[in-house]
Amino acid sequence: MMNGATVLTNLKGLLTPDPNSPWKVDRIEDAAIAMAEGRVAWMGRRTDLPLEWSDTPTTDGGGAWALPGFVDPHTHLLFAGDRSGEFNRRLHGVPYAQIASEGGGIRETVRATRAASVQELVELGEARLQTLGSRGVVHIEAKTGYGLELEAESRLLQAYKELKRRGWGLDVTLLPAHDIPQEYAGDAEGYSRIVADAWLPELVRRHPGVASYCDVFIETGVFTVEQGRRVLEAGKRLGLRPRIHADELSWTGGAELAAELRAASADHLMFCSEKGMTAMAAAGVTPILLPTTTLCLGMRDWAPARKMIEAGCQVALASDFNPGSSPCLDPLLVLRLGCLQLRLTFEEALTAMTLHAAKSLGQSDLGHLYPGARGPIALWPINDPLGLVYWVGEPYIPIMTP
Ligand code: NIG
Ligand code: FE
Repeated sequence: MMNGATVLTNLKGLLTPDPNSPWKVDRIEDAAIAMAEGRVAWMGRRTDLPLEWSDTPTTDGGGAWALPGFVDPHTHLLFAGDRSGEFNRRLHGVPYAQIASEGGGIRETVRATRAASVQELVELGEARLQTLGSRGVVHIEAKTGYGLELEAESRLLQAYKELKRRGWGLDVTLLPAHDIPQEYAGDAEGYSRIVADAWLPELVRRHPGVASYCDVFIETGVFTVEQGRRVLEAGKRLGLRPRIHADELSWTGGAELAAELRAASADHLMFCSEKGMTAMAAAGVTPILLPTTTLCLGMRDWAPARKMIEAGCQVALASDFNPGSSPCLDPLLVLRLGCLQLRLTFEEALTAMTLHAAKSLGQSDLGHLYPGARGPIALWPINDPLGLVYWVGEPYIPIMTP
């Protein structure tokens, strides 16, 4: 018998996407899961447990439903300060774009983040990761982008390096082209050049191996497709795979660019074109939809999730956790809006928050419960998993296996 092996029994059932089939979800009642060395070795009906496991110590699942841990493939984990003042102005009717054009918005967070030490950033990040973890999230993507100058972006990477060292499941994305900083006001062209030509190489040289991806905010009034391509191609030369903030507030062709560059993902996509959807499907780009952002921005333009699925895309969902457009660390809210506003079925929304989210990060052993899958597994104290959406305001908390 392997060291630390255990059989998880007394499960009301398990629900898992099938990693070999994009939208298939298996539902097994009265299930058992054999774990060895932190990974699933076998799963199925309890009564089918192979004999070789019969002497293995068991772990009581408490009658819960076992689901794979959530993966959150788009967060802006590290920033200092908050934007509750701006939030209140928006409640009074001032548009997000107007606040940004007055020097608020992202720039307000940039000022606070530039003033924070690496230690402060690590503490903020760790508290947020603990919150996410307690709500069933086992792995996230996390971006820089509130430094917008070389030294502050470098401190953010230093903080991410420390969080990784402490064992948090993180894939880091360089996003110095998140906005145009005050110092380059009116000069997106010049800023995109310094990011591409000087900062990205220098950040990778200073912090080798910390970041795996590069992102850019392509939007009317921020960076054009050409400027975005410049930044992402520079990232690619450094071994960073592209992800893109695309077609969020207007159509700009971000999804098409993501397909052209074979990006890992294109994110937001409320204004994605049908051509963009087809191109993403053909290029294997994961569209990542962020419904809490649409909610918090008070927009009516929910991303066309159903059309994307029909176009052949393997849609994922994420929180976009950030202090402006999505101050939300609640994976259940993402799941619920995925069903109630993006019109996904429960099984589709679950797959989007597990298997497809993990796949967009190249984490093939997360997002499902098939043999080889890595824990922690989420044990939800609920009669039926559909209740996670149906009982729409219930603050369910899972127990996470080690
Ligand atoms: O993903 N679109 C740009 N970035 C963020 C918003 C950041 C902010 O408002 O601080 C987003 O929505
Ligand atoms: Fe974002």
